[in-house]
Amino acid sequence: MQVITEITQLRKALSSLRQGSIALVPTMGYLHEGHLALVAAAKAQNDTVVMSIFVNPTQFGPNEDFESYPRDLARDSKLAAEAGVDFIFAPSVEEMYPVNGSVVLQAGAMASKLCGASRPTHFDGVVQVVAKLFNIVQPTRAYFGQKDAQQLAIIETMVRDFNFPIEICAVPIVREADGLAKSSRNVYLTKEQRDKAPAIYKELTRLQQGKQTREATKEAIERATGGKIDYLTKLAYPDLTEPTASTKRFVLAVAVFVGKTRLIDNIIWEVV
Ligand code: PAJ
Repeated sequence: MQVITEITQLRKALSSLRQGSIALVPTMGYLHEGHLALVAAAKAQNDTVVMSIFVNPTQFGPNEDFESYPRDLARDSKLAAEAGVDFIFAPSVEEMYPVNGSVVLQAGAMASKLCGASRPTHFDGVVQVVAKLFNIVQPTRAYFGQKDAQQLAIIETMVRDFNFPIEICAVPIVREADGLAKSSRNVYLTKEQRDKAPAIYKELTRLQQGKQTREATKEAIERATGGKIDYLTKLAYPDLTEPTASTKRFVLAVAVFVGKTRLIDNIIWEVV
């Protein structure tokens, strides 16, 4: 496995591999089994696997955790190599954003819902960096987790609207044994918060199964975690519109502030 920090170097390394298929797994690092499930799917379907590790400043709001976001490239390199990644692309902020560009992509209406309501510039930053990574790597396929269901839906829309010749592959949420969705941000939780956090998925499941109301679910999550619900919303998926009588696929998504840590989770399902 090679760790590459420069765009020109990565392009050179990939130029002789383009006869075969190339997978891109975009991440912000501090890898866990959720990220590694994306790698496993990528490896099963492609000849070469590129993982990007870049904590993208443009998707963090002014009072968010860009500075404190956990970073450990040595640990990530070891895990990625063991998982069979061929290239890590770990650029600096200057390499990715050498100038303050004037042409921008906007994530649009889908980005105003769910996480976008409390993180208004977040998805503009996500589509900016993902579009750049797509152009830098030019992968055959790119892998995204359903953990970030809204991100996945927005990226699928970007690929369709802008004709990126890339297949987007979705990977189901990987959870801890107690049900908590794996996240790089779980390391922010105190032991007590971590012990209480599985209530999020437990209560979300009960709501999805029709065993309790939305209000009762909100209260149960807040009571169990000592946290504050940011949103608990059911939408049509992947369009992220209000469900109608003909809606077949749904997402039930939640965001909770547990202390200063914002945790998200969701369930996606279909009715026949
Ligand atoms: P990051 O949070 O590091 O996540 C990288 C990828 O891993 C995303 O596609 C995310 O959905 C997936 N992932 C995270 N936790 C998961 C879990 N428990 N199960 C399954 N997949 C999981 O998402 C980002 O980075 C960034 O926004 C990025 C797309 C890299 C753009 O900067």
